[in-house]
Amino acid sequence: MADTVLITGGAGFIGRYVTRALLDRGDRVRVLDSLIEQVHGDRAEPEDFDRRAELVTGDVRDEAAVRSALKGVDKVVHLAAEVGVGQSMYAVDRYTSVNDYGTAVLFQQLIARPVKRVVVASSMSIYGEGLYRTAGGDLVEDAIRQPNGGAPWDPSDGEGRPLVPVPTPEWKRPNLASVYAIGKFVQERMTLTLAPYYGMEGVALRLWNAYGPGQALSNPYTGVLAIFASRIHNGQRPMIFEDGLQRRDFVHVADVAQSFLLALDRREAAGEVYNIGSGIDRTVQEVAELLADAMGRPDLTPEIAGKGRAGDIRHNIPDISKARRELGYAPAKDFAAGLIELAAWVARQEAKDRVGEARRELESRGLVA
Ligand code: UD1
Repeated sequence: MADTVLITGGAGFIGRYVTRALLDRGDRVRVLDSLIEQVHGDRAEPEDFDRRAELVTGDVRDEAAVRSALKGVDKVVHLAAEVGVGQSMYAVDRYTSVNDYGTAVLFQQLIARPVKRVVVASSMSIYGEGLYRTAGGDLVEDAIRQPNGGAPWDPSDGEGRPLVPVPTPEWKRPNLASVYAIGKFVQERMTLTLAPYYGMEGVALRLWNAYGPGQALSNPYTGVLAIFASRIHNGQRPMIFEDGLQRRDFVHVADVAQSFLLALDRREAAGEVYNIGSGIDRTVQEVAELLADAMGRPDLTPEIAGKGRAGDIRHNIPDISKARRELGYAPAKDFAAGLIELAAWVARQEAKDRVGEARRELESRGLVA
């Protein structure tokens, strides 16, 4: 039977894909979104928003807006959040207000009007450093880097030998290394802790680096691929923190949307957390080069800054076997095809390159060293 789903932050990058996927299969969608300028620019209407959904402009911290948005709703997808790891290290009050307090307001209203299920977007950031292995084969859950940044970038064992990153499973202990990560953990735990007391089911998806057409190109605090795309589009070389060899998993936004639909539906998912990635990891440098190729500008080779950004983690790659097994999640998008699609979309966009501005902002606060 069709559900009515409320998506907080549903006008954002991931939200628009989840919205469309839900509508396409016959669900009704209401979106509550405050359309912040950093993401949406000065547009009156979010770009590429599926008009079959009902759009309510409002802040997730506004209890009246949330109360009214919850009317007649069966399930909630909670995406409303500030998303910049680096920015969270100085805009502390704003990040904590939107991400932590915003989730509290949502749950305060859900207590009065419970729904069947709440699926929250958590993040791989909550792990901090991913899982590592020593040269001797022992697993290390609490790898740490140089306390004040700087090379060597890789975490090391007691004898100074670099640890080797391995796929991180859901059981790894969290290590909250940024204000953003703290907020995401609060969102996740609040959902999983409170939901069962009020007859609801909570599910948390720990997302890796989502990419694809529609990512906010002019937001210098968005994910690294969108930042690189905006740089290259403007004829600038991508700028890479550290040495470029940090590893991530880039997952296409359509695959992320699929994971939300499964998390809304699957009985087994109640009360669970799932890693969501593509299952294939890459270095940031490799990704910068592949994107420049896909955009027809292989000459724009990355500039390696050799400096670290406060709050960043070194390597984090997911073990997605639990999502495959329990949700039936099957990421389908090939990375090369995804980059070509992204390049074609970027070519049609106007993107302000505000990365220099953002970097100066971080540098002036001593957050790049
Ligand atoms: C990103 C998202 C976070 C999301 C998480 C999920 C952002 C800002 N961060 O975190 O919201 O929860 O994925 O996996 O969207 N880098 C450069 N040059 C740049 C920008 C970044 O080299 O111009 C590097 C960073 O130092 C880092 C890597 O690229 O090593 C990834 O950065 P980024 O995409 O910002 O953040 P994540 O921590 O991966």
